[in-house]
Amino acid sequence: MSLPDFTVVILAAGKGTRLRSRLAKVLHRAGGRSLVEHVAQASLRLKPRAVTVVIGHQAEDVNALLSPLGVRTAIQEPQRGTGHAMLVARRALPATAKFALVVPGDAPLVRTETLAALARAHQESGAAASILSAKLANPSGYGRIVRADDGSVSAIVEDAALTPEQRGIREINSSIYAFTLAKLWPCLARLKPTNVHRELYLTDAIAILRQQGDLVVAELVSDAEEVLGCNTRADLSLVDLAFRRRKRAELMDGGVTIQLPGTVVVDPDVTVGADTILGAGVQLLGRTRVGSGCEIQAGSIIIDSTLDDGVLVKPYCYINASQLAANTQTGPFAHLRFAVRMMKDARLGNFVEAKNSVLGEGVKAMHLTYLGDANVGSHTNVGAGTITCNYDGVAKHPTTIGRRVFIGSDTALVAPVKVGDGAYIGAGSVITENVPPNALGLARGRQVNKPGWATARRKAVAKSAKHSKHPPRSRKSASRSRVRGAKSSPLRKRAAKASRAR
Ligand code: UD1
Ligand code: MG
Repeated sequence: MSLPDFTVVILAAGKGTRLRSRLAKVLHRAGGRSLVEHVAQASLRLKPRAVTVVIGHQAEDVNALLSPLGVRTAIQEPQRGTGHAMLVARRALPATAKFALVVPGDAPLVRTETLAALARAHQESGAAASILSAKLANPSGYGRIVRADDGSVSAIVEDAALTPEQRGIREINSSIYAFTLAKLWPCLARLKPTNVHRELYLTDAIAILRQQGDLVVAELVSDAEEVLGCNTRADLSLVDLAFRRRKRAELMDGGVTIQLPGTVVVDPDVTVGADTILGAGVQLLGRTRVGSGCEIQAGSIIIDSTLDDGVLVKPYCYINASQLAANTQTGPFAHLRFAVRMMKDARLGNFVEAKNSVLGEGVKAMHLTYLGDANVGSHTNVGAGTITCNYDGVAKHPTTIGRRVFIGSDTALVAPVKVGDGAYIGAGSVITENVPPNALGLARGRQVNKPGWATARRKAVAKSAKHSKHPPRSRKSASRSRVRGAKSSPLRKRAAKASRAR
């Protein structure tokens, strides 16, 4: 696709008062991107002469977001309406620009193909302006298209200015236009701020063109959803839903099974291979890439991560900025905080957290473990409750575990520390020194068994209970003596003696 005679102008300077937000409207996100990014990307795909974005409210932030995309910006300060925004854009347009496609920054669902079709229709009709219009069941809030008897457009009337008769018009202005610039510029000079907001409306240019005898046409969009604008939070949620639906449809067309699709959220840049199954409530975000034949089970959230073919993620895992090689398994309830590399066939089980760690081929850490700044060699088994103590309160330190190591349950590995290939660590150890290859590392209190101790204790308890049976006395003195008796009872004395003997 290429439109060398067209330049695109994106209007994105407004505040978006109706969102009731501190954030400029076009920076709000829907479908995994900010609104203006969606519009800029759809426009850039047209390969026009240039893309110019009019910015104003929070211009610095909008500019920072857009400049890597390769668009021009023009600053509108103050923001005096959509017509004024076009006057500002004029200064930034290439002098030779013949036609402009104008797109509002708050209508992010518009497709590149739709913009291209409008541009082509505009060139073919020879009109001074072509408006992309849509028929909506509920047109309230939008400007309406007023057509003349011959079907051409005579005016756009804003919602607030509609006559009772015009209120019945269901054809709305999407704010997406193609203009022949030589015709538009003189009209903009004639705009007047004669509306409730005292702004210069681009929509008023339509009636002026008509008065000059120029042709204005409206092209009905085939899918009205594409022109939904985001003026309120409710609009934002509808647009987000539409983007999510589109992405899921694209994945399903590519051979991905999605359970309860309405609950699954997938960002636009995510790729998923065929025969992968996504469970209910799964979220695949950012730059995540999922291979073929994977299964991501219910409720798991995966961000900026790469999963090779055949990976199994059990329910409710949180995986961020990590790489999971083929046939690895995680979860349920595993937390891969960031920079975790799981090699082929490695497995992390329930309630395991890992961060900045490499887990070699076939490594298993199946229960209740924390692996931070750790390098674990292939086929090592990390027992339940193992913790790498990687932080000394000031700095982080590495733990290096060799190949085919067996770490017993409830081991604390106090970093920096190394465990050599083939070593064993006894359960419950606190390992503070390196363990040589093939050695047994054991670091815990030695066990002492006292034969018959429990029998003796039970006897002592029974005897003291017998001695403490007294005949009943008055209520008051009985309660006093209970308190005194408790302190010096034979039961307590014997228990204290038994504990001293231990
Ligand atoms: C506008 C149209 C309306 C149309 C609707 C479609 C006008 C007067 N009205 O209304 O006919 O049905 O879009 O969604 O054009 N902007 C600037 N500078 C400004 C003011 C706005 O750049 O001074 C930008 C905004 O950031 C926004 C776009 O222009 O991205 C449209 O402005 P908005 O206030 O949303 O207009 P609507 O009330 O939606
Ligand atoms: Mg709007």
